Amino acid sequence: MAEDDAPRPSVDDESAPLLNGDAPVEPSFLQRLTASTEELTPLSKVLALIALILLILSSVFIGLFAGAQTRLNSVLDTPIPTVTETQTEVRTDTYTVTKTAIEEHTQTWTATKTWGTTVTATRIATVTASPPEKTPDKGDAICISADCIRLSAAILSNIDQTADPCEDFFQFASGGWVKEHPLPADKGLITSFDLLSIENKRIIEQILTNPPLIAPSPADAITLSKLQTLYGSCMDEGTLQERGENPLVSMVEELKILFEGGIGENHLSAKDDQRIMKELPPKGLTAALAWLHSKGVEVLFSFMIDGDAGVDPDAMTVWVSQPDLGLPSKEYYEEEDILELYTSVLARIFLELSPQPATPPPAPTPTQSPWPWPWPRPTPCDCPGDEPELPPAQNRTIQAQKLAERVVAFEQAIARAGADLDFLQGDPLGTYNPVPFSNLTDSLPSISFGTFFSAFALRSFPERIILTYPPYLKDLKEILDYTPPQVLLGHFTARLVLSYTNYLSTTTELWQAKRKLTEVLSGIKPGSMTERSEWCLGVVESALGFAAGRPFVQRTFAGSAREKGTKVITDVISAFKHRLPDLSWMDKKSAKAAAEKADAIRVKVGYPLSPNTTDDVSIARYYSLVPIKNETFFENVLSAQVADTIRMWAKVGKRRDKEEWEMIPSEVNAYFNPPANEIVFPAGILRPPFFSADWPSYLSYGAFGSVSAHELTHAFDSAGRMYNQQGKLEEWWTNTTSAAYDERVKCISEQYSKYWVDDGKGGKAYVNGNLTSGENIGDAGIALSYRAWEAQYNSSWPLGGEYLLPGLNYTREQLFFISFARTWSSNAKPATALQRVRTDPHSPPRFRTNGPLSNLPEFAKAFNCSVGKPLNPPPERQCHLW
Ligand SMILES: *[C@@H]1O[C@H](CO)[C@@H](O)[C@H](O)[C@H]1NC(C)=O
Ligand SMILES: *[C@@H]1O[C@H](CO)[C@@H](O)[C@H](O)[C@H]1NC(C)=O
Ligand SMILES: *[C@@H]1O[C@H](CO)[C@@H](O)[C@H](O)[C@H]1NC(C)=O
Ligand SMILES: *[C@@H]1O[C@H](CO)[C@@H](O)[C@H](O)[C@H]1NC(C)=O
Ligand SMILES: *[C@@H]1O[C@H](CO)[C@@H](O)[C@H](O)[C@H]1NC(C)=O
Ligand SMILES: *[C@@H]1O[C@H](CO)[C@@H](O)[C@H](O)[C@H]1NC(C)=O
Ligand SMILES: *[C@@H]1O[C@H](CO)[C@@H](O)[C@H](O)[C@H]1NC(C)=O
Ligand SMILES: *[C@@H]1O[C@H](CO)[C@@H](O)[C@H](O)[C@H]1NC(C)=O
Ligand SMILES: *[C@@H]1O[C@H](CO)[C@@H](O)[C@H](O)[C@H]1NC(C)=O
Ligand SMILES: [Zn+2]
Repeated sequence: MAEDDAPRPSVDDESAPLLNGDAPVEPSFLQRLTASTEELTPLSKVLALIALILLILSSVFIGLFAGAQTRLNSVLDTPIPTVTETQTEVRTDTYTVTKTAIEEHTQTWTATKTWGTTVTATRIATVTASPPEKTPDKGDAICISADCIRLSAAILSNIDQTADPCEDFFQFASGGWVKEHPLPADKGLITSFDLLSIENKRIIEQILTNPPLIAPSPADAITLSKLQTLYGSCMDEGTLQERGENPLVSMVEELKILFEGGIGENHLSAKDDQRIMKELPPKGLTAALAWLHSKGVEVLFSFMIDGDAGVDPDAMTVWVSQPDLGLPSKEYYEEEDILELYTSVLARIFLELSPQPATPPPAPTPTQSPWPWPWPRPTPCDCPGDEPELPPAQNRTIQAQKLAERVVAFEQAIARAGADLDFLQGDPLGTYNPVPFSNLTDSLPSISFGTFFSAFALRSFPERIILTYPPYLKDLKEILDYTPPQVLLGHFTARLVLSYTNYLSTTTELWQAKRKLTEVLSGIKPGSMTERSEWCLGVVESALGFAAGRPFVQRTFAGSAREKGTKVITDVISAFKHRLPDLSWMDKKSAKAAAEKADAIRVKVGYPLSPNTTDDVSIARYYSLVPIKNETFFENVLSAQVADTIRMWAKVGKRRDKEEWEMIPSEVNAYFNPPANEIVFPAGILRPPFFSADWPSYLSYGAFGSVSAHELTHAFDSAGRMYNQQGKLEEWWTNTTSAAYDERVKCISEQYSKYWVDDGKGGKAYVNGNLTSGENIGDAGIALSYRAWEAQYNSSWPLGGEYLLPGLNYTREQLFFISFARTWSSNAKPATALQRVRTDPHSPPRFRTNGPLSNLPEFAKAFNCSVGKPLNPPPERQCHLW
């Protein structure tokens, strides 16, 4: 889906899920820390302290839970309060939220002025009673209840009646929406996913700000209080402003102390500037790395814990990949104007972090070098065009600028050493490279991986780890060898600051420096501010998402939603299986295996059972490691990050927890997980405009059915098909079928490579057909949801499940496609569109609409498109997969 999918070791990943409900992490974590004290003194101290606090805290919880007799019934049995549709005016502001520092993915939450886009339809009795007819499009009863009229109005207002559906269906089905939701100056992107996501946040806000309707159990009371306190601490801008940059500056200082740990007090003084890592790597490097990773700042490499897909997909092991950097992708590191901007932003950050000099500035002596003063001077060879060496510590501004230049050059080298996104995204065999654990240490001798892993409480090191791209490690070693420690520390500092500035007051220089970067990369108006409550709700979701998910599910996912949503998904799976024998490119043997894989897919709908959303104690326990206090917003977020890291590493060496989720219940998204062979749909997306239990089927199958088909189809896209029924990497199609399939993938790849977006500089940025091919194949799954809708029509019709809506002069077939296209309504600034084209394995929304439909004869038929129209190309130019 939007940001979905495979927990493949790729930069697109959502971070590894954080769950492991029952794992008794607390005491063993502490023990392991104590055990590693010798090698890792400062780090151990820090972590041990955290662990100690958490241990105390969790024993408090154990006490509380002992008395907790009352448990809520399972979610669906809980009395569900009626949720009045929000008529909240969402202000036209934007925030860029780093979802969690662990993910390091910047996610833009956008909103626009909208009045209750959620409209649910209620079928009226006369329709339910109407007799089945064989000519369904004539003389049908039309639902004229208030809800139906509202639903109808919402659909109508999306449509641009002046557009030709056969020319540009995106414009036809979303043109009205696009007009009604102009992109404000302060937003880079706004989509119908975003609007629903904001609605979901507002529901959580109501839960947090209104007294509960029924008295919560003791465990729920604790959870609710944490949610409220976190939200309150985020909204408390006065306190944030008072604390200024202090919380982050202390972290920067801590990092510096750890990093310098082994070398001696002078090692970062100006006179040592020429030293390179190869000659004398800082002994504190490992400690600094572990410390950063524990906080979700994945420098030099990133880790993912997932199944060993080549051997046993349920045996959780360590995957090592390249890290995220300050700029979103490789391409940005080759653009002069962006590099200049990034350098200036880092220079602002370094300058801000360097202590104010006394007047006149003291000439620092080699023995007195409080970091980051003095900044290192450039080595002439490193910075072409550099002036001769400056006298040390002359001018803070210039020194900050010089360090920034060298850090950017370092990041550029790292970016170039990394694999391309399309390789990481689309080549599961190429990215599966198991090596012995010792290989890691042998490749990077300056880092002690034994110590590093012991910091993450691994009881035993895995015998082998999996590299996504082995050449990266080799290049990394070379880069490190010739990097001075100061530059490396500068890079670490930059990563730390860029990951955490969001949680400082917006009045701080550090916050504003990062904001500047975001503004340019997304093309939003300088200085524009977003409504804080919306941003804070996003923080609550990323820090305590499974906790917020429990009341969210109770409010929004009652009645038959889960059952009816699941039926759509299983109908789509059946349609797929029925279709297999008719696929000309698939031989019998492969088709049989594909049907078996489809049968084996685990379908998860609504909310996870690990932590157990239906169980108050399970949810409270899950967050027992996250203390939340008034007035310490920054530390609250930090502790949530650390808890996530602990949970992630606690999985190593265990079996897969089949109940856990990588998405939280309120998320507007869905995913397929290849080694787990499961498709997962949070309650957050089972809402209008995707789904409603009260909708006629053609709307639900058009929108949510296509979402389901997309995820199902991922199991058979060019990467997903490499995993067998058990999620194991294996070629399980015959060579003939593979070859025929590859031809069709090439067709899709070439089709999408012709699409482009305006790059904002007067040029065209072409869609990368290779990077997006897996997602485009998923989108082609709409053929399956259409068949699933047709297949259930005769049984749903007599039950009134295909009723019509007032004023919508379209056939059900047409409305199926309109419902599909409505979910892709969006508006984007060129800078954001460009960023997406470079980094997003999904195609831009216009092509997610027009691309699949132009390959679907059923669409052309529904809208009577003549052959040769853009959305009805001649058959030989269509790409047919499903
Ligand atoms: C440092 O250098 C900058 C840029 O060259 C200059 O604007 C500034 O006045 C200098 N500051 C001092 C204290 O010399
Ligand atoms: C790591 O493993 C790969 C493949 O097993 C091997 O080619 C390479 O030489 C090893 N590198 C080191 C440093 O051991
Ligand atoms: C989740 O909690 C409910 C209610 O306590 C319980 O009935 C159910 O068995 C639990 N499910 C799992 C998978 O733990
Ligand atoms: C946090 O602040 C709120 C309101 O200021 C107060 O009601 C609550 O008791 C405080 N919580 C803690 C844990 O101090
Ligand atoms: C299928 O192709 C692979 C390599 O592409 C080859 O090793 C194998 O022998 C082929 N199998 C058959 C049955 O032709
Ligand atoms: C896409 O992949 C194909 C086959 O792997 C390759 O030939 C082609 O050059 C790639 N296209 C781009 C734009 O990278
Ligand atoms: C639905 O009923 C019609 C009319 O009886 C029939 O022609 C059609 O094949 C049926 N469709 C399905 C999918 O069973
Ligand atoms: C409905 O649309 C058809 C053709 O699309 C047109 O002929 C007819 O007049 C329309 N009816 C109404 C009531 O608008
Ligand atoms: C479909 O379009 C053709 C012309 O392209 C026209 O002759 C025909 O009447 C149309 N059919 C319907 C049902 O509108
Ligand atoms: Zn997808």
